[in-house]
Amino acid sequence: MQNDRFLRALARHPVDATPVWIMRQAGRYLPEYRATRARAGSFVNLCKTPELACEVTLQPIARYPLDAAILFSDILTIPDAMGLGLSVDEGVGPRFAKTVRTLAEIEALGVPDAETDLRYVMDAVRLIRRELDGKVPLIGFAGSPWTLACYMVEGAGSASFARPKALALEAPATMHKLLDVVARSVAAYLAAQAAAGAQALMVFDTWGGLLAPAMFREFSLRYLAQIAQTLKNDAVAKNLPLILFSKGANGHLEALADTGCDALGLDWTIGLDEARMRVGARVALQGNLDPAVLHASPEAIRAEVGRALADFGAHPGHVFNLGHGITPDVDPDRLGVLIDAVHELSAGKLG
Ligand code: CP3
Repeated sequence: MQNDRFLRALARHPVDATPVWIMRQAGRYLPEYRATRARAGSFVNLCKTPELACEVTLQPIARYPLDAAILFSDILTIPDAMGLGLSVDEGVGPRFAKTVRTLAEIEALGVPDAETDLRYVMDAVRLIRRELDGKVPLIGFAGSPWTLACYMVEGAGSASFARPKALALEAPATMHKLLDVVARSVAAYLAAQAAAGAQALMVFDTWGGLLAPAMFREFSLRYLAQIAQTLKNDAVAKNLPLILFSKGANGHLEALADTGCDALGLDWTIGLDEARMRVGARVALQGNLDPAVLHASPEAIRAEVGRALADFGAHPGHVFNLGHGITPDVDPDRLGVLIDAVHELSAGKLG
């Protein structure tokens, strides 16, 4: 591995400079991404064509001195493989042809076989590892059971996800059946990505923060812990760092750190100083600049990077990132300013 800063930081080992990667680093803000997506015909075709998924994974790595690559795919590949029929149209967002709302519909769901039903993802992982040739580590990922259940029950994105919440409240046993089959699918999928060559794993619990505390513990946290434990019992995945990102769930950082994960992703509504005070050094922290900072001037971007580095302090265990995905309207040059600022302002901090 030519650049192992990211893996060292996740292991809470000292680094020469703070590693940085960006959620949605291969995305619509990059003209080269838009060109490849146009060639693919659609976002879903792009995900399902390993050569093109590999191409867009590598685009941000070619443009910027990033410290990690993330598999180009989507969290909704699992429900698609369960037969729900995913489409993602410009201006509409993700949508399923079928929803899952009744006990009978949930009982009909099976755990997809990662190497057959999701072969295109595993082929992409293998191809990307070959093309990266040890330049930077590759992150594999999946959605959390709660977040996937939100889309499966609702059938599309939503501001409030009232339908899955109502199902959890009215028929908790039914919701637990759904979360259980999804959690087993997520764990098997992540283990298969590890076997195919992923070098770190991340779980996106984007909608965990929509839940009140007791519901978060029952319907989200519990399944995150189940996945962490399953991966610990997997011969290959047990050696990979696991990052949990529960957006908007700052009230639960200690409990999230206790799941057995190696790092927590953070959104921008908590300071890195406060987060570190609460979880100590038992997990690394990943984040957490407000993506809107990328609309500010280069001077303001550098100042915010400096502030985040100072907030974390001179300890090992920080992976720099945004607090959520980069938005399509960002000028790619501004991201370059951010990445350079992370490396320059953190260099020698631990040396
Ligand atoms: O980070 C990366 O570069 C890796 C690729 C990645 C994508 N989606 C590509 C994508 C990852 C890690 C995801 C995860 C994902 N997908 C999450 C969790 C992270 C988060 O953002 O909260 C969620 C909730 C989804 C579901 C999903 N897929 C949404 C909400 C959207 C955006 C819809 C829109 O129009 O804004 C997608 C589509 C999607 N996934 C795009 C990309 C680059 C944009 C679609 C396009 O190119 O047309």
